Amino acid sequence: MPKPQILALGKLMPVVTEGLQAEFDLRVIPPDADREAFLQSVAPEIRGLACGGGLVDGAFQDRFPKLEIIANFGVGYDNIDAAHAARLGVMVTNTPDVLTDEVADLATGLMIAAVREIAASDRWVRAGNWTKSPYPLSHGTLRGKKLGILGLGRIGKAVAKRAEAFGLDISYYGRSEQPDLPYTYFSSLKDIASHSDILLSVLPATGATHKAVNADILAALGSDGTFINVGRGSTVDEEALVRALQDGTIHSAGLDVFADEPNVPEALLTMDNVVLLPHIGSASKHTRNAMGRLQLENLRQWFDGKGPVTPVAETPWPAE
Ligand code: 8YV
Repeated sequence: MPKPQILALGKLMPVVTEGLQAEFDLRVIPPDADREAFLQSVAPEIRGLACGGGLVDGAFQDRFPKLEIIANFGVGYDNIDAAHAARLGVMVTNTPDVLTDEVADLATGLMIAAVREIAASDRWVRAGNWTKSPYPLSHGTLRGKKLGILGLGRIGKAVAKRAEAFGLDISYYGRSEQPDLPYTYFSSLKDIASHSDILLSVLPATGATHKAVNADILAALGSDGTFINVGRGSTVDEEALVRALQDGTIHSAGLDVFADEPNVPEALLTMDNVVLLPHIGSASKHTRNAMGRLQLENLRQWFDGKGPVTPVAETPWPAE
């Protein structure tokens, strides 16, 4: 039996490339190749896509007549048209769970950094200002504050658990109430923004969440408010966010994700009340390797006939 042909898209973790090379017939687009001609030549026999980035829309999927599985690196899979894959009968997998705590740690750190001005204080020391005067008292504090979490999935819950330890009053916004949890539910984004001192978003990118955090929501958060985003940049109206930070509609922000990564709006780069991170939520060696192993395991088990390890919601297993 010939080994199944897998096409690598984007940059894969070495653990994934090595595993795929050993167990499959791995096709990698050569850096200097004519991408189009290469894809045309390999497409007829490709049975799996290993995604480390790039758009896998319906038209792209349609190019592979023998495609069975698309294995994504990352829990978010907005780069893949999973509904289209479902219609084609193609399995889509992601890498949940193994990154939950890592991302929640980062989100919590980013929240504290933004509220207590950690990055600005660091710049103060480096600029030699401390020898002239102490750093001004931080405007913000976590003491007695209300945290609103947008999206209470696995990562949102892990953030909430950490926030409990800080004594924050926790509420959440999402599609449905989770009555077993001891947090206050809001079905309206505007209401949770009005209620909260800190709004922390873990929202995935979907049609429904596109630019959901807009000028109205930021106005409701208010001039003492802090906005944190570790979900997806497209869920925020970035122009409205920049304006809100410039004119004091909100006080501060901590951003790990942006609408057009790796490009960050120019205006944010000089603002002291914003902490900017280069999408590092899951980016430790430990966790990225765990994600890579899970991506590989999904392909392995699929082609061993055991089914996927972590199918996405649109392509449940066993198939319904
Ligand atoms: C990924 C992420 O590691 O998992 C996700 O959805 O946002 C990141 O933590 C990244 O998208 C992979 O490139």
